[in-house]
Amino acid sequence: MPDSARLTVAVTGPTGTFGLALMPLLQQDDRVDHVIGIARRPFDPAQRGWTKMEYRRGDVRDADALRTSFEGADVVVHLAFLILSGGKETTRAINIEGTLNVFRAAAAVGARRFVYASSVAAYGFHRGNPVGMSEDWATLPADRLFYAQEKAELEHLLQQEAATHPQTALYLLRPPIVLGPDAVGAKVTIPAILAPLVHGVAGALRRLPGLPVLVPDLPLQLIHQDDVAEALRLCVVGAGAPGAYNIAADDVVTFVDVARELGLRAVPVPGEPVAAVARAVTKLPYLPSAAQWVEAMSHPAIMDTTKAKTQLGWTPRHTAIESLRSTLR
Ligand SMILES: NC(=O)c1ccc[n+]([C@@H]2O[C@H](COP(=O)([O-])OP(=O)(O)OC[C@H]3O[C@@H](n4cnc5c(N)ncnc54)[C@H](OP(=O)(O)O)[C@@H]3O)[C@@H](O)[C@H]2O)c1
Repeated sequence: MPDSARLTVAVTGPTGTFGLALMPLLQQDDRVDHVIGIARRPFDPAQRGWTKMEYRRGDVRDADALRTSFEGADVVVHLAFLILSGGKETTRAINIEGTLNVFRAAAAVGARRFVYASSVAAYGFHRGNPVGMSEDWATLPADRLFYAQEKAELEHLLQQEAATHPQTALYLLRPPIVLGPDAVGAKVTIPAILAPLVHGVAGALRRLPGLPVLVPDLPLQLIHQDDVAEALRLCVVGAGAPGAYNIAADDVVTFVDVARELGLRAVPVPGEPVAAVARAVTKLPYLPSAAQWVEAMSHPAIMDTTKAKTQLGWTPRHTAIESLRSTLR
């Protein structure tokens, strides 16, 4: 099909944070003719005004159903993912096997592009990682953080798959923590009966101006969901060459900045001792999965986003602090 022809785009996980931000952009883009959305729960795209989308309930663990659903797709965007919650086996079945199923189904129906939402976590949090990593820096599994290990493993597996299916070009996006109005809402459905309690506790936390809180003075990158969505859209239409792209807001903030935005009286603690403690905790023989996230504090994971700007033509429109504020609102 010539590049001027209109695209059919299949999207797994269109009802999550990334999907909810991407869909309006696909809806508005004249180069996109038709969208096939796949996730497990019931969903009605018409309620959001997404007239191009045909929604099919499905599971990425079902390889045959994926092939049937993807029939006619020119591009597949893979966003379906499970953060460790149903045990390691279920998580791997959805994230690792599911992702391979999705890539293979995309290749089987002749999709020209496969776009995957990876993460800065794919680089691991290794002490040798430079601040301002470009895409040339190798991705290497983290020591303990399961989520980061999976992302590095998946990038490697997808690159292997892409090498054997060269007709399906692989695009990998590596965002940091994503913020925006759907960042929490899409993942956590708070039962209505608990909502007043949860909002009350959150409100009280934000009104603790008197109590000083020790916060590490470590740098971090953030990104707004709409800026991620725009990078995904640029990959969908093939705006740049296939490959990996780092994306993040232009400003690098610190945990102290974030705590202050949350209304806390943050007292900065020098970053290096905190990172050293995080490294030591990471080496403990038993670490519950929630505690593994401490590894993300063991070394700053700061990326250079020049390639996305120069090769994809991507420009972030939101600063990190604006992204945080839009989540809190
Ligand atoms: N959010 C972030 O801060 C962040 C940062 C960097 C990278 N990423 C990556 O970006 C991608 C998208 O993240 P997100 O934040 O949009 O995720 P999310 O909000 O948790 O949404 C996940 C989506 O996947 C669907 N899904 C889950 N399991 C599925 C299955 N077995 N079969 C089919 N669909 C399934 C969910 O719908 P159902 O539950 O109805 O199936 C939902 O639509 C993930 O790969 C994530 O690791 C996210």
